[in-house]
Amino acid sequence: MSKYSIHVVLFTTNTCCGGINMLMRQLQLLAIIVGIVRACPEDCKCFSKTLDCSFRRLKELFNIHDNYQIWNFSGNSLDTKAMINIEPSVTDSVQIFDISHNKLCNVKEPSFLQFSQLRELNLSHNELNDFEISLPQGLEVLYLGNNLIHTWPHLYLAQASQVKKIHFDHNLLNNMSCEADANSLLHRLINLDLSYNHIERIDKCILKTMPDLTDLNLSNNKLSAIKEGLFDSNTQLQKLDLSKNMLRKIPGGVFENLPNLAYLFLSHNKLVTFPLHLPVFEVLDLSFNEISCVKEDKKKDVYPHEILLLGGNPFHCDCKIRWLKEFIEMREYQLHYFDIPEEKFIPICHSPYNLFNEPWNMLSTDLFVCDYDNIHEEEDTIFENSEHESEDNLKLEAVNIAENSVKLQWKNIQVISLIESTYQLKYHQFGHRNKETIRSFRSTTSSYVLHNLTAGTAYIICLQEVTSISNKELDCVELITAEDSSVLAYLFFACILSVLFFFFRN
Ligand SMILES: *[C@@H]1O[C@H](CO)[C@@H](O)[C@H](O)[C@H]1NC(C)=O
Ligand SMILES: *[C@@H]1O[C@H](CO)[C@@H](O)[C@H](O)[C@H]1NC(C)=O
Ligand SMILES: *[C@@H]1O[C@H](CO)[C@@H](O)[C@H](O)[C@H]1NC(C)=O
Ligand SMILES: *[C@@H]1O[C@H](CO)[C@@H](O)[C@H](O)[C@H]1NC(C)=O
Ligand SMILES: *[C@@H]1O[C@H](CO)[C@@H](O)[C@H](O)[C@H]1NC(C)=O
Repeated sequence: MSKYSIHVVLFTTNTCCGGINMLMRQLQLLAIIVGIVRACPEDCKCFSKTLDCSFRRLKELFNIHDNYQIWNFSGNSLDTKAMINIEPSVTDSVQIFDISHNKLCNVKEPSFLQFSQLRELNLSHNELNDFEISLPQGLEVLYLGNNLIHTWPHLYLAQASQVKKIHFDHNLLNNMSCEADANSLLHRLINLDLSYNHIERIDKCILKTMPDLTDLNLSNNKLSAIKEGLFDSNTQLQKLDLSKNMLRKIPGGVFENLPNLAYLFLSHNKLVTFPLHLPVFEVLDLSFNEISCVKEDKKKDVYPHEILLLGGNPFHCDCKIRWLKEFIEMREYQLHYFDIPEEKFIPICHSPYNLFNEPWNMLSTDLFVCDYDNIHEEEDTIFENSEHESEDNLKLEAVNIAENSVKLQWKNIQVISLIESTYQLKYHQFGHRNKETIRSFRSTTSSYVLHNLTAGTAYIICLQEVTSISNKELDCVELITAEDSSVLAYLFFACILSVLFFFFRN
């Protein structure tokens, strides 16, 4: 049938006279009729390359005599037996097979091997409780969500050595540990969705079989701990969703070897402290955990993340957290640029009781005072074993913000030391850390004008004192350059916006 219609379409494009149009239509109609007579099974719809038999109350697959690239049998009552009767001669041309929303339970041989050209297979919303399905080697996308599978079928999945995306959400996976012979790699897999399972533990050796993974979704599981080195083999990871688990602690170096990791979602866990020594993220979502305090000496761990979400934590609002309040206030501009839910962005006080449930943007910083009788505070200092809290020595200020330039000034209050030091000024447009610009100055410099900035755009600018021994003081400012009268700036921002929008949808 497809041949007929192609013929007609070619004919149409070669003529432009209105008079022939009528004839064309008749020809087309004829082609369709011929097509139906030849190939389209009763009850189904056929159009060029698609066989659409979705939602037909089918209990079995009838004989299909023609070649189609897409088979859609979604929403029927096909069970396992139905899969046995497929005639091999027509399966070679199928590239997409949608058999979701059926009643498949355990599919065994003969299975999908005869679909030699299959690229996408949708088996979601069935009743599969075991996965012993042989997959064709060329398969790229596999949907298995909403089944009842409780073990990770590594050996079967590894048969599809080209597989790029696996959707394994809404199943019953519990412990993901390794079988002795799980050596075969899923070396093309970039996208794995394991959300909404019951995973309590995931072993490193499982993740080791997926060296190219960029996007891993483990949200809505039961993880209570992450072992050190768990992700060490997944150096390509860009996005990791660990939200809605039961994590209490993030081991320090666990993300250290992941240079590409830019989005880390940890909301709705049970973290008590701000995780330290993390790489710099574009989005770090720590909302709805159990963090009550982030001390000022952790500033370096907090600052670099472009979007930091701390809402929904039970903060104790005293003087120790004033700096964080100021920091979040300064970043409130982000709410205008990104579709971030306010309750994820703006923290609320949990204690003291006079501030209970008050959102930070409604409170004056003066209300964050310390009560030195509090025993907790002393415990805290002993526990954290921290360096003594020092006053900020380096102060960076933006003194003149224009459309395309910013004048910066800084002061260093520190007693002049004998060690040779320089300043490094690093700045980038919000959301574009990979395009960071660095300028270095002698220690005698104390101001600088940044030129060539884009109007109406947010910039993050940090100044660091660098000595031959170590990188020392750091201070940052964030600002938005003055609006340009042209719309160009808006357009540009709209562009960034659309990239990040997506992550705050739910
Ligand atoms: C199959 O049909 C269902 C219902 O019409 C539709 O939602 C689904 O996207 C179709 N599948 C494919 C692969 O086109
Ligand atoms: C099943 O997966 C295919 C992609 O392989 C997709 O196009 C289709 O919409 C999915 N079907 C349903 C019902 O969601
Ligand atoms: C999962 O692993 C944990 C820790 O090794 C173990 O205590 C638990 O019994 C395991 N659960 C199942 C269902 O195998
Ligand atoms: C992870 O899966 C959950 C549930 O399916 C979804 O809401 C969330 O957006 C996913 N996370 C990412 C980063 O895509
Ligand atoms: C600004 O950009 C223009 C063109 O890219 C360049 O010629 C000029 O030197 C830049 N000015 C500064 C101060 O960097």
